[in-house]
Formats: sequence, structure tokens, C-alpha cells
Amino acid sequence: MLNGRKILLIIGGGIAAYKCLELTRELRKRGAEVVPVLTRAAEEFVTPLSVSALAGQKVFRDLFDLTDEAEMGHIELSRAADLLVVAPATADLMAKMAHGHANDLASTVLMATDTPVLIAPSMNVRMWQHPATQRNLATLAADGITAVGPNEGDMACGEYGPGRMAEPLEIVEAIAARLAAGPLAGKRILVTSGPTHEPIDPVRYIANRSSGAQGTAIAEALAALGAEVRFITGPATARRPVGVTITEVETAAEMAKAVADALPADAAICAAAVADWHVVGAGASKIKKDAKGTLPSLTFAENPDILATLSAPGPNRPDLVIGFAAETDDVIAHATAKRTRKGCDWILANDVRPETGVMGGTENAVTLISAEGADPWPRMTKTQTARKLAALIADQLGQQTNKTDKIQ
Ligand code: C5P
Repeated sequence: MLNGRKILLIIGGGIAAYKCLELTRELRKRGAEVVPVLTRAAEEFVTPLSVSALAGQKVFRDLFDLTDEAEMGHIELSRAADLLVVAPATADLMAKMAHGHANDLASTVLMATDTPVLIAPSMNVRMWQHPATQRNLATLAADGITAVGPNEGDMACGEYGPGRMAEPLEIVEAIAARLAAGPLAGKRILVTSGPTHEPIDPVRYIANRSSGAQGTAIAEALAALGAEVRFITGPATARRPVGVTITEVETAAEMAKAVADALPADAAICAAAVADWHVVGAGASKIKKDAKGTLPSLTFAENPDILATLSAPGPNRPDLVIGFAAETDDVIAHATAKRTRKGCDWILANDVRPETGVMGGTENAVTLISAEGADPWPRMTKTQTARKLAALIADQLGQQTNKTDKIQ
């Protein structure tokens, strides 16, 4: 599956560096060539000898190693690869990447490259949640760098939470998705997913039952066909897709901004269950129970309609805009009217009455509504639905020029 692909593996200085030995083995087993670069800190966790033995290659360690410069300069080193993988991507390495530092071999290679980059972050949970790391992550996402993980779980430091590096096989999958040379190679596709949370006050919010499972499946199916996927998700319970660029948001307003920032795109799929309204004046203080039992009342205002905004004619309109219509009655009629009202090209209509088990379940039964009419698909898993949709998108985008090329 990775036959003949060349991966430059930059190993950062974190406890998870030991997993890179297995990652190297798994990549080579699948036919990839692994060229390892070790940071100084990484050498505290794994030895150059073990990395080199498993990679079957010399390990690159020093920016000023003249032999390496004569054999292969740092610029060559980065450009000769199909993909740069940073694992573990420590808080420090991410900060260097986000700010453009180039003071050792790893950071210089990352600055000198025009090759796609995938990072597998790994750090203590507090370091991961620190606003600086989250800022850096957003900067890296905007630069087109994709991330796999981190996962939630027990950490070497004894704490629990997000920060564990993705497992080697998850990283292999993300690498394969990023390198997939399918019919959607060169296409940038936006996917919105999950619910939004609309705050009532700092501790309460209004949400909905969307799990984000269909959105995750669509993002992975598109990535598997070679698309560069920008995945913008609300606080979904579903796992995040691998091999895509992820932006996490909470509210509809944040989602609308993240979508606008991710344009231009060749296609957009709005699978998110965006709240229609937000609470006006959701302030900084918790609403208190009143001794007299007076009930609070909430005032709502309409949220931006992301799908309608994306569908409006203009230079940034994706060539294909797809929405979902989750309905409980007159599904086809409502969804058909919705397609016209929102101005999108296709609508995937689904019946979300609780007895269908669609919301939060693993299966879906959708009807594709386009200008040509309604095409009911059989009930199948969300993964199968996603693959069928991705194949249709690939057909549709077929011979069109890439939106991202047009503006360059
Ligand atoms: O209007 P309704 O919520 O039924 O429409 C569903 C479709 O519109 C979905 O594709 C959803 O992602 C999108 N939508 C949106 N922004 C909103 C509301 C819905 O993108 N504010």
C-alpha cells in the first residue's frame, strides 16, 4: 500500500519516541522507505543505532554535519520525500514549526520543504490544552499541515486526558490517506461535522444529538480518494478522522468563521447539525436560581446559515456544495424545498425519527436530491454511505480545474 513511497520521519524528543521504532517497522513492512531525522532531545529517548537498524538507513542528526551536507543537503533531504512525518510532535517542535524557527536539522528541514507534512502530537495534557499549543495547532492547520491524534488516555506522567501520541497503525493509516493518489488528488474539500454548542451562560449550553459519525466517515472516504480535506467539527462524540486537517469549534458562529477561513475549496459538504439559534446575551456569569422561583427566559437570535452562505454565487463558491436535511416528516418534500432555498447543488436527505436509529447510530438511509430529482439509496453503514458519496463527488469534480489552482 505504501510501495516505493519515501517518508522522512522526524522523531521529536518525547517519551512516545519509542513508538517510532514500531512505526518505522510497520511502514517498511508496507513497502515504504523511511529516512529518519532525530532531534537532539529524541536521542534521550531512542538511540540512533536502534532507529537506523530498523529503518535500514543512516540517521540524520546534525545540521552542520558536513558529510551529510556533501551527500545530501538539508534542502534535498526534505524535498526528496513524498511526505514529512513529525512523530512525536512535541509542544516545542509544534511551536518552532508554527513560528518558522530553523535552528536545528529537524526545524530547518521543515522550513525548507514544499512537501506535505503530517504531525502526530504528543505531550502532557496541560501542555496540549495550553492556549499557546492550541494557537500553534491552528496556525499549522492553516498552513495545510495535517495532524493525527493526539488520543485521550493515561499518560506517562501519570495524568489522564488528550495528549497521547496516536498508535503506530493509526499513523500508518493517516500516512496512507495523505499519500493516496486517487481521483480526488489535488482537490481541496471542506467538511463540516458534529453538533454545535450554543452557550446559555458559562456552564450551560444548548446542543443536539448529532454524533459527528457521518461527517467523520465522509472526511475519511474523501481523503482515501486523495482529497486534501479540511474538517471543521463542533464538539462531536465520534472519533476524529485520520489524514485530514482538523479545526475544532464550539458554536455556529465559530464554525462559520472557520469555514470562511478555509476557502477556497473545490467542494464543501455540510454534514454538521448546526444550531439554528443562539442565546442572546449569554454572559460571563452563571444564571442563578431565584428564591421566588421566577423562571429565567431566554431570547434567541438566528445563527449564520453556513450552507446558504457557501452556496451563494461568488468567486469563492465551491464547484459542488452539498448539504444534509435531517427531517422527521415529509422527508423528500422538505429536502427538495431546502435544496432550492439554500442554493446548494445536492442535498442528502435522511429520516431522523428516533425509531430509525440514524442519529448516533452506525447506519444511515439517505436520498440524494439534485437538480435531476430524488435518488433513494439503500440503508447501509455510514462508512458505505460516505464511500458512495465520495465516489460521486469524484465523478462530479472529474475534469474540472482545481479551485485552489485557479487562484494561484
Ligand atoms: O436548515 P437545516 O438545519 O435543516 O439545514 C440542514 C443543512 O444546512 C445541513 O447541511 C447543515 O449542515 C446546514 N446548516 C448550516 N448552517 C446552519 C444551519 C444548517 O450550514 N446555520
